[in-house]
Amino acid sequence: QTKMQIAIDGPASAGKSTVAKLVAKKLNYIYCDTGAMYRATTWKALQMGVSLDDDQALGKMLETMELSFKPNEPEQLVFVDGTDVTTAIRLPEITNNVSLVSAQPSVRKNLTERQQQIASEGGIVMDGRDIGTTVLPNAQVKIFLVASVHERALRRFKENQAKGIDTPLAKLEAEIKARDYKDSHREVSPLIKADDAILLDTTSLDIAQATDEIMKIVKNTE
Ligand code: C5P
Repeated sequence: QTKMQIAIDGPASAGKSTVAKLVAKKLNYIYCDTGAMYRATTWKALQMGVSLDDDQALGKMLETMELSFKPNEPEQLVFVDGTDVTTAIRLPEITNNVSLVSAQPSVRKNLTERQQQIASEGGIVMDGRDIGTTVLPNAQVKIFLVASVHERALRRFKENQAKGIDTPLAKLEAEIKARDYKDSHREVSPLIKADDAILLDTTSLDIAQATDEIMKIVKNTE
């Protein structure tokens, strides 16, 4: 049985990481959250006072930045130069600035290379925005996961409530729309469905159903 590459792309808060993690677990594959890599880069730039649109300075910063993941439940840990940034990279300050950093060509180049390295042996489920189009164009399975803006904001709202974060639903909808717009309209590797990706709309699917749909696609590919 071959160890496949599975690419899961789509807009913000479509449930990519939740289902990607479950699919990886069922297949005993590695899960790689590429959004966390862009978030970690944004975190370090803010720490160091590097301008978030300074392509050259960000590229230089990444040359020596150590980025690693450590398995953990319920969420894997993310480390930047030895510091645990798992919680920090999910804060609104990062979420609302990450699209600027991720639009810089030198950032995309550096992180894309790291992602290709991580995926090189196969046996991987990778989620992001450009995995099927740019990072792993030869992935055996490509999924483009979407859901309505309202449904995505509602999911984020419920998640936030559980964490004691109190952002109004309308504000979450506006933030999601803004991030989708920026991610879809950047010059380098914009968010777009790969021609050979399968579109999966999860607006009316729960996590288990979405996971099952992807597992069916995987089984049909083997
Ligand atoms: O998936 P997540 O919401 O954590 O991604 C955070 C941000 O990282 C996205 O809004 C996007 O700007 C960027 N990103 C990207 N390419 C990827 C993954 C994430 O540009 N493959």
